[in-house]
Amino acid sequence: MTVEALMGRQIADYDPPVRGDPITGERYYAQRWADAEWAHVWTKVWHVGGMAADLMDAGDFLTHNLGRESVVMVKQADGSVRAFYNACLHRGYRLAWAEVGGAPQLVCGYHGWRYDPDGTLAHVQDPDDFPGGNPCGKHKLSEIRCEVWGGFVWFNMDTDAASLRDWLGAQVHDHLAQWGMEKMTRVYAVTSDVPCNWKIVRDNFNESYHLPTLHPEIATVINDRVEDCEFRIYPDTGHNMMRMPGLQPSARYPTHQVLDLPLAQALEYWELDPKAYEGNAMAARDAIAQQKRKLGAAKGYSHYGHMGDTEIVDYFHFTLWPNITFTMWPDGVQLLRSEPHPTDPERCIFDHWFMAHRIGDTDEVIGPNGPTPLEPVDRERIVFGEKTLGVVADQDLSVAIGQQLGLHSKGFRGGILANQEKRVQFFHEKLNDVCGIHD
Ligand code: FES
Ligand SMILES: [Fe+2]
Repeated sequence: MTVEALMGRQIADYDPPVRGDPITGERYYAQRWADAEWAHVWTKVWHVGGMAADLMDAGDFLTHNLGRESVVMVKQADGSVRAFYNACLHRGYRLAWAEVGGAPQLVCGYHGWRYDPDGTLAHVQDPDDFPGGNPCGKHKLSEIRCEVWGGFVWFNMDTDAASLRDWLGAQVHDHLAQWGMEKMTRVYAVTSDVPCNWKIVRDNFNESYHLPTLHPEIATVINDRVEDCEFRIYPDTGHNMMRMPGLQPSARYPTHQVLDLPLAQALEYWELDPKAYEGNAMAARDAIAQQKRKLGAAKGYSHYGHMGDTEIVDYFHFTLWPNITFTMWPDGVQLLRSEPHPTDPERCIFDHWFMAHRIGDTDEVIGPNGPTPLEPVDRERIVFGEKTLGVVADQDLSVAIGQQLGLHSKGFRGGILANQEKRVQFFHEKLNDVCGIHD
C-alpha cells in the first residue's frame, strides 16, 4: 500500500501514519507469534466474558475460556462482579465448567474444596491435616480485573491494566454508548473452532474491500463505495471504526438508483411511498432517517432518542483492538470475535452473537439470519461446516481456510494492500510493535 495514503472520507485526526511493514505469512502459523501474542496481547487487553444479564443473584457465575486459560466471573452480594482464574488452589483442577451457572459456593469436583463468591477458600476436607492448620480463610482464588459495561461482563488478566473506559478511549466509549447495548437481549450466539489463524478473521473485519466479491447481495441496502464510507483509526488505542451508509444501494454499480425490494419494504414500513423512489433509490436513506425521527418513538424505537442522525440509519463497524468487532445496526449489534486456539496457531475460536432492542411489543427481531425470536440464548457450539455461523459470516469464513493455505506459500510476499485496507496495515504494525517482532 502507499505509505501514509488517505482512505476515503478519512479525517486527519483518525488517520495515523503507517510504515508499510510487510504482512508476512509466517505470523499466521508460527508458534513464536502465538507465544508473543499470549504474552503481550491476550494477557493485556480487555475481553468480553459473557452477558451481564446471566448474572442475577449472588453466586451466579460465567466462565470463559481463552487459549489455555479459563476465567470465572462471579456475582457478589453487593451486586458487583469479580473475576478469578478458574483453577482450584489445591491441585489445579478447573473449578467451574458450565458457561453459565450459579451456586452459593464454587465447589471443586476433585477433592471438594469450596470457595465463597469473593474467592475465599471456605471449606476443605480434613482441615486439620494441613501443615500450618486449617487453610480455610487463609487463601483466595487469584483475582483478575473485571468490569460490567454495555450489557457485557469484561475481564482483563493484567492486574495493572487501565480501566475498561480508558482502554476503549472516550470517543469509542461514548459513541458505542449511543446504542444502549445494556438494554439489548442476546438473541443469537454461535461459536465454532475454525481452521484459520485468528488474525485472518481480524483482517477480514478490518476491511470492506471484499464486499463486492463475498457479499454481493447486501449491495441493495448498504452503500460500500469507498468514497461514501467513513473510516477512523484511533491511534492511541488501536481501535478503528468504519461507517457505511445503510438503506442505500451501493454506489459502486450503475444500477444504484434502481429500487430493490428490501429498500422498498423499508420505505413502506416507514410510511413512505416506494413509487416516489423508483429510479431514485439513493434518496431513500435520508427520507427514511427523517421518518425515523418523526415516527420512531411511536413505533417503539425509543432508543433512537439517544442516537445521532447517521446512527439511526447507517452501519457502524467498530473493531476493538485486537479482536472484537461490534457491527452496530440501528436496532441491534453483532459481536464478531476471533480468539486464539489453545494449542494450534492455525485454528481459532470464532464467535458470532447478535444483541437486539425490543421494538414495541414484538417478540421477534430482524437479525443476521432474518427474523429471530426475542429471547435470551446461551452460546451454542457448532462444528465448523456442519451448521451455519450466519449467512454473511459463512461467506467471510469460506475464504479464511483458503487464505490460511495460501499464506504458507513461498509465493506470498507480504501483501499488496489498497488504501482502503489501511486498518489492516495499522493492525499488523501495532501487533509488530506490541509483540516486539519486526523481522
Ligand atoms: S484440585 Fe480442587 S479440591 Fe483438589
Ligand atoms: Fe465480510
